[in-house]
Amino acid sequence: MGTAVNNVFKDLTYYQLFEVAEKARWNITDIPWDEIDHSKVNENLIALIKTIAFGELTTYSATKSFMDMFSDDPDFTQWLAVWLYEETKHPHALIKWLHMVGAEVDSSFLMQGREITPMTPSKAEMLAFNIISEIVAGHTYTQTSMLMDEPVLKQIAMYLAKDELRHSVGFENYARELIKHSEDPDKDKIICLRAAWAFLQDEGFISHPVFLTVRNLGGIIGGDEVIRKIRKAVASRIGKLVGVEIPEPEMIFEVYSEFKRNYRKKKAAAAQELTAATVG
Ligand SMILES: [Fe+2]
Ligand SMILES: [Fe+2]
Repeated sequence: MGTAVNNVFKDLTYYQLFEVAEKARWNITDIPWDEIDHSKVNENLIALIKTIAFGELTTYSATKSFMDMFSDDPDFTQWLAVWLYEETKHPHALIKWLHMVGAEVDSSFLMQGREITPMTPSKAEMLAFNIISEIVAGHTYTQTSMLMDEPVLKQIAMYLAKDELRHSVGFENYARELIKHSEDPDKDKIICLRAAWAFLQDEGFISHPVFLTVRNLGGIIGGDEVIRKIRKAVASRIGKLVGVEIPEPEMIFEVYSEFKRNYRKKKAAAAQELTAATVG
């Protein structure tokens, strides 16, 4: 990352991702606001939407951390601007829905929602966690859209699900770029596998905002089937990124440990070769 290129339009991946984003883009005015079915709205639903909207506010702080960490990377930082814009529309749509049903939020809601725990200092880990968190968010919204009776909320959840899944592809693209340009690609692959292992062994291990939101939802949207789908998607996507097969999510530790063992062996062999060459 941050690698010098002569032709930005040809060599930076942002421009392709942006065109895909432009084609997929929905507008706040596409939502049929006057079709809200007020008979389907109740206090529980309002509380649920407030929790989801709150969890969507962390993008501001996350973007700040990303921008600092990747300040030398013109490709990823351009994409981040689009990510921030699209993510900002998520709480926007939800807060507008709340407003339309007579539930308001104040500015302290917005500010408190931006607070995040400090993010990991590792670029590879940060990208891997965000691939995972976008997969989690995408599946959660897909499930939300299926469960919702209120038609406008159903539509909003569908838009958000598509955005989140597309974002997971964006983060995956930049994780791939990071590995491609890394001085030690296998080390970064190990970090990505470790991130997937941390997630798959116990979600409580990670304090990433999306996981906190899912936990706050207390299984209202989750359910075993969704969790199974998420786990499978995470194992398959991180496996593909790293170039290994993770046949079942439960096998992540084995795959991770074996990859690490092979890495250490390769390093030891290379060090031995170097010593032999120097001595020889
Ligand atoms: Fe979002
Ligand atoms: Fe997203």
